[in-house]
Amino acid sequence: MKPGAVVRACPRSLEGKTVAVLGYGNQGRAQAQCMRDSGVSVIVGARKRGRSFREAERDGFPVMPIGEAVRRADAACVLISDMAQGKVFRDEILPSLKPGKTLYFSHGFNVAFGIVKPPKGVDVILVAPKATGSRLREAYLNGENVPLFVSVWQDATGNAGATAEAFARALGPAKGARKAFRCTFAQEAVANVFGEQAVTLGGAMQIAKAGFETMVERGIPPELAYHECVAVTKLVVDLLYARGLKGTVFGVSETAAYGGLSRGKRVVGEAVKKEMREIFSEIEDGRFAEEWLSEHARGGKRFREMKRAESRHPLEAAHRKAGKKS
Ligand SMILES: NC(=O)c1ccc[n+]([C@@H]2O[C@H](COP(=O)([O-])OP(=O)(O)OC[C@H]3O[C@@H](n4cnc5c(N)ncnc54)[C@H](OP(=O)(O)O)[C@@H]3O)[C@@H](O)[C@H]2O)c1
Repeated sequence: MKPGAVVRACPRSLEGKTVAVLGYGNQGRAQAQCMRDSGVSVIVGARKRGRSFREAERDGFPVMPIGEAVRRADAACVLISDMAQGKVFRDEILPSLKPGKTLYFSHGFNVAFGIVKPPKGVDVILVAPKATGSRLREAYLNGENVPLFVSVWQDATGNAGATAEAFARALGPAKGARKAFRCTFAQEAVANVFGEQAVTLGGAMQIAKAGFETMVERGIPPELAYHECVAVTKLVVDLLYARGLKGTVFGVSETAAYGGLSRGKRVVGEAVKKEMREIFSEIEDGRFAEEWLSEHARGGKRFREMKRAESRHPLEAAHRKAGKKS
């Protein structure tokens, strides 16, 4: 498909409007391309010397500094890294944001935790795809659905809800039921961050490492421990995603189902739930946001050390021995 080739009619609420996609990374690139193919007039705002600026130009978009893009557009989609949004908002977006415009986010974090304070008179909406940018784009091109969560933080014009729905339409499949669900900015922000910490990233990686360490301590070869803790986890998670809880327990061997059902709650029991509730509270009351933004502002030394420690874990050596890349 040629850059700029319109393949769909523009959603009505975005007809005749110019949309500035600010940031051209994982989400920015995918969303800008989907919107453009949905007939939306898209310009890109990026910093002059950054990789994004050149990439958006290569993809055929009009690219300009962030402030100028906001000035020229009716809606500004803030798809800059979450840690940079506060400063970029104050220095470059806010001075160009006039009443009647739309401010759009794909994660509730900065608005819900008070880091970005939108002025009165603008619509503030959330359209959060629950997918990486590449998956969003792939789904768009294949006519598949990616769940989207939409919300309105501020409805200055009376049209904020319709604008959010129009953006969701521009990112979703042309035909069939779109999976656009309602939630609040705070719910999306907290759920996303909690899921990463307690379940998908923090939880899953910690369980895999603890299982691996236990097996190796008890004499299981690391290659075998790796297979059971990582490769089989992928199979079971794929099954859980495709067929739910019932399909999983009926889709594995009887020994696996009985063992898992009778022992799983000993691994993830009340103590883990108690810790999860504490982690949820830390996110909800802003303690996590404050900690993470100040770590980032100090240069992220502790964070870099934490990441380096992961690459030294024996599970990583087993991962490479299994022929996998980092
Ligand atoms: N990644 C996902 O799967 C996903 C899913 C749903 C929602 N989201 C949300 O989408 C938003 C964007 O995330 P992302 O993952 O797409 O980020 P990303 O891939 O890291 O892209 C970041 C973009 O921000 C720009 N940027 C960073 N610092 C900047 C600064 N100081 N001034 C100007 N531009 C700056 C980068 O430009 P340069 O090239 O110049 O560095 C790049 O274009 C976030 O709110 C995120 O939570 C992400």
